[in-house]
Amino acid sequence: METEPRIATLERVPAESTFLFRVRNGDDEVREAILVRAGEDVACWLNYCQHFTHIKLDKGSGAAMRNGELVCENHGAYFEADSGICTYGPCEGATLPELEVTVDDGDVYLTDDAYEFVDTGPIEDDGDLTSTSNVEF
Ligand code: FES
Repeated sequence: METEPRIATLERVPAESTFLFRVRNGDDEVREAILVRAGEDVACWLNYCQHFTHIKLDKGSGAAMRNGELVCENHGAYFEADSGICTYGPCEGATLPELEVTVDDGDVYLTDDAYEFVDTGPIEDDGDLTSTSNVEF
């Protein structure tokens, strides 16, 4: 059996933010994904808000979190870390697309057949890193 690609050690997934990496989907497009602590587990979501899907939750230095929920800094949508459901904001009720990951012996592996691991970090040069926040904390 082929060894599943390791995304990161569990230690590298922060308690109150996200770990950013890149995946390739079946259409050969590179997308960003995030790991987030969800209680004892780790959840994995595509890194795009469900209000405007070109907007990233983690803009390169970790997504904002409040009370265990991911916060989109553009218009303040909140997403539960463990379910990906938007509980507040302009896309309330929408769900972040999930990727399957597995934690084994202190490492997090991508085990989703629909995606292939590319590397850690953001996609470079797509312009979104300059988008500004409308939300003050
Ligand atoms: S783009 Fe995320 S809440 Fe509007």
